[in-house]
Amino acid sequence: MNFKEELCKKIADNTNFSVDDIYKLIEVPPNIEMGDFSLPCFKFAKNLGKSPQIIASELAQKLNDIDFIDQIKTAGPYLNFYLNKEIFCTSTIKEIIKEGENFGHSNIGKGKNVVIDFSSPNIAKPFHVGHLRSTVIGNALYNIYNFMGYNSIGVNHLGDWGTQFGKLIVAYKLWGDKKVIEEKGIEELNRIYVKFHSEAEKDPSLNDEARHWLVKMEDGDKEALDLWRWFNEISMIEFERIYKRLNIKFDYYTGESFYNDKINNVLKELEEKGILEESNKAKIVNLEEYNMPPCLILRSDGGTLYHTRDIATALYRKNTYDFEKCIYVTAIDQILHFKQLFKVIELMGYDWYKDLVHVPFGLVSLESGKLSTRKGNVVLMEELLNEAVLKTKSIIEEKNPNLENKDLVSEQVGIGAIIFNDLYNSRIKDVVFSWDRMLNFEGETGPYVQYSCVRANSVLEKGGEIDFNNIDFSILTDDASIQIIKLLYNYKDKIIEAGNKYEPFILTRHLVNIAQSFNKFYHDNPIIVSCEKTKNARLALVYCVKTVLEKGLSLLGISTPNKM
Ligand code: ARG
Repeated sequence: MNFKEELCKKIADNTNFSVDDIYKLIEVPPNIEMGDFSLPCFKFAKNLGKSPQIIASELAQKLNDIDFIDQIKTAGPYLNFYLNKEIFCTSTIKEIIKEGENFGHSNIGKGKNVVIDFSSPNIAKPFHVGHLRSTVIGNALYNIYNFMGYNSIGVNHLGDWGTQFGKLIVAYKLWGDKKVIEEKGIEELNRIYVKFHSEAEKDPSLNDEARHWLVKMEDGDKEALDLWRWFNEISMIEFERIYKRLNIKFDYYTGESFYNDKINNVLKELEEKGILEESNKAKIVNLEEYNMPPCLILRSDGGTLYHTRDIATALYRKNTYDFEKCIYVTAIDQILHFKQLFKVIELMGYDWYKDLVHVPFGLVSLESGKLSTRKGNVVLMEELLNEAVLKTKSIIEEKNPNLENKDLVSEQVGIGAIIFNDLYNSRIKDVVFSWDRMLNFEGETGPYVQYSCVRANSVLEKGGEIDFNNIDFSILTDDASIQIIKLLYNYKDKIIEAGNKYEPFILTRHLVNIAQSFNKFYHDNPIIVSCEKTKNARLALVYCVKTVLEKGLSLLGISTPNKM
């Protein structure tokens, strides 16, 4: 039962505001003493020509026969509503039991597609921590949107075309060793790529050669394309390995090269619509009027660019998926890129430019000295994952040396800690890696929430079967239980808010709150007690907590071990 909505209907019946308007007005008071819902009456004052205080007390009279409301109190211009605890907890718990892990699911997005462009690393370049953020945030949004009833379409827009491949071919021909590359993968490809840049400073003719190879690639030259394909394969092995560990899947791997044969139509269209200009032999869309640098469409040598391919991409996605929204998850340094892109789509006359959303995120910073990196300040993803898992394993060795499946649990907890840490703050904030904080089993961390699930699990195991049909709900009306049930009840709204704001941290924090209240409850209330009625009711609550926490974590992309 949606108590908030039911309450809004009753209020709407007694005012000349719509249910939707009231819904937006209703607040949740900061503490329990002030009730469960609060209605500020300022807005009614204008219409009725009475003071908000008077309106509040008049409304309180009119609304006094709602069965699920125990009490209505006025507090100046506010009206505070107190839910009937037993009705509230009965309805919420019954719903969780009925829905299971589907609890919190909604149909807001039914029949609508949402494209989520995330992760999108670049071929032959290291998968670094910046890509980690895109991967983790994008995957959480993917799951959250699916849970809101949308059909999420996850796309990996691999950086698999462009000038870097000309350079890489030259580098390979000069200094590459097939065996070493097969053995070391991206690390070696990156080494020769970096070498190319330092050598080209001394000998600029290398750049001409690189351009020559790029043209060959664009003309379909077999040798060039074979090498290009091979670089792709080598890189994908590594990317797949990482995605597998993170348990992430994409619906499509349509990288930049996928749009090669769609570029000509874009050029034609831009030309026909009169927005393509020539500038220093290059082709651009002039965005001066909008206070932005021009959007580069064709280089003077005829080569296409990141923007060109992104225009083709947006058109293709709209035509293919008829999306409700197309979400791009990248670091903040691409804000301008997407502003320009969306403006060009608007100038092309497509009103769906409004449905293109850039979801930027802040940088990753490292607590200095704590993270070992092999080279410079590029922190490689796999090193990071390995370090997290290793550190977790040593904590487990210390705390619970006899645990079964230590390796698997370390993997789940170590990687979970990284994901959780990334999703713990508003995404625009920089993420700081501090191992001590991330892996603190008592802090606001992934391991803490996972541990709460494990604790719930073990209580359930000890407690034996629950009689779901005979729960005495009056037992769950104490403060500690009600606080948990309220948080469980708000879980659905939090998911929707997280999705609408593209902010997974809203869900992350809510899970921490649930875990904290649960641990308080667990501490204060014996669960496995001699009174069967009490035991049964409390076990049912524990079951609900476990179900929601586990599913909530999985929406964030984190799996939970049975024991840890
Ligand atoms: N490959 C790019 C990078 O590593 C991200 C691509 C994002 N998606 C897009 N459609 N531009 O920065």
